[in-house]
Amino acid sequence: MFETLNRLSDDAILGVMAKYREDPSPLKIDLGVGVYRDAEGHTPVLECVRTAERRIVAAQVTKAYVAPAGREEFNAAVVDLVLGREHRAVGERRVIAVQTPGGCGALRVGAELLRAAAPDASIHVSDPTWANHLPLLGGAGLRLQRYPYYEAAARRLDFDAMIERLERAPTGDVVLLHGCCHNPTGADLDADQWRTVADLVSRRGLLPYLDLAYQGFGADLDADAQGVRLIASRVPECLIATSFSKNLGLYRERVGALLAVGASEARAAAVRSHVLQIARSIYSMPPDHGAAIAVEIFTDPALRRTWIAELATMRERVQAMRRLLADALRRLGGDGDYDYFERQRGMFSLLGAPPAVVERLREEFHVYMTADGRMNLAGLAPSSVERLAQAILRATR
Ligand code: LMR
Repeated sequence: MFETLNRLSDDAILGVMAKYREDPSPLKIDLGVGVYRDAEGHTPVLECVRTAERRIVAAQVTKAYVAPAGREEFNAAVVDLVLGREHRAVGERRVIAVQTPGGCGALRVGAELLRAAAPDASIHVSDPTWANHLPLLGGAGLRLQRYPYYEAAARRLDFDAMIERLERAPTGDVVLLHGCCHNPTGADLDADQWRTVADLVSRRGLLPYLDLAYQGFGADLDADAQGVRLIASRVPECLIATSFSKNLGLYRERVGALLAVGASEARAAAVRSHVLQIARSIYSMPPDHGAAIAVEIFTDPALRRTWIAELATMRERVQAMRRLLADALRRLGGDGDYDYFERQRGMFSLLGAPPAVVERLREEFHVYMTADGRMNLAGLAPSSVERLAQAILRATR
């Protein structure tokens, strides 16, 4: 039977991770997969996570099943974190949350839900978007369409083109929006632009699907959720996929959640029943360990303070690398406009170079990034900035 299956090409992002691991050069620079690294190149276990984990392991008395929805105390804490306790939809009991295996699990469960609710709806994703959005959403059978998002030459958001296209999306379609730290461009909507999008989706009857995978990596936990909160306050229904891979550094534990806002409490409860059935039919229940850690950190005031400080350290380190890289490119005589590295937010920016240059950077200079030129700036260290800037200038000349 399997003779019908040809070997597939490597995953656009994970393939770069594998190539980087195979490279024996001590000078290699990993700007590939979106994980945070410290100045020594390590992806640390946060101190708040270590403390929470010790407590959990010491107190744990069973490994019995939890539930398809995961931990309810986790789900409640996630709603607080994403929407805030004062949010209107929360007060009206129109919000449900279900723990999922990472943000990917949330995105897929949400996509299956959309497919069940509206099999003919299209989902509009930004051009470009995170490479894995396409199989996660398309794999559930949703029809994908793209809206313009980024003006590559100017290295900025192309907001007018985005709005112009979304104005033409049929009522009942779904719009995927990145909550903050757009992956792969780092170009985010500002407060006015979020207001315009909120007006548009509510006026045109589009269902927003918000992907919030980097909360805390842009400005801070609250500021990074403002767009999501605004949208959720302006529409009767929306979906939010959230992830704690990055902001808690719990990548391999697979901790995320799918939130749904329903038009009424009863509608939200109906949505929850479908979400649980979908979860049961794919993976039954989410893994527990990471969510147990997360809830300990979210609900213990001292641990939460430690987390917020550690998150600020990670965010500020990436921002510092953005500044250092822009400075080095200018200092070494680059004639481009490098301001965008400092303007953009989160881990990623696009180099804006063709695949041949990306390949040359890898083969000749041991610099690894995805084929579209996406650079994870959290992979840079003060000791590698100069080398990267030189490599970019030589490879692009
Ligand atoms: C990324 O964009 O590199 C990360 O979100 C990791 C992944 O799973 O692709």
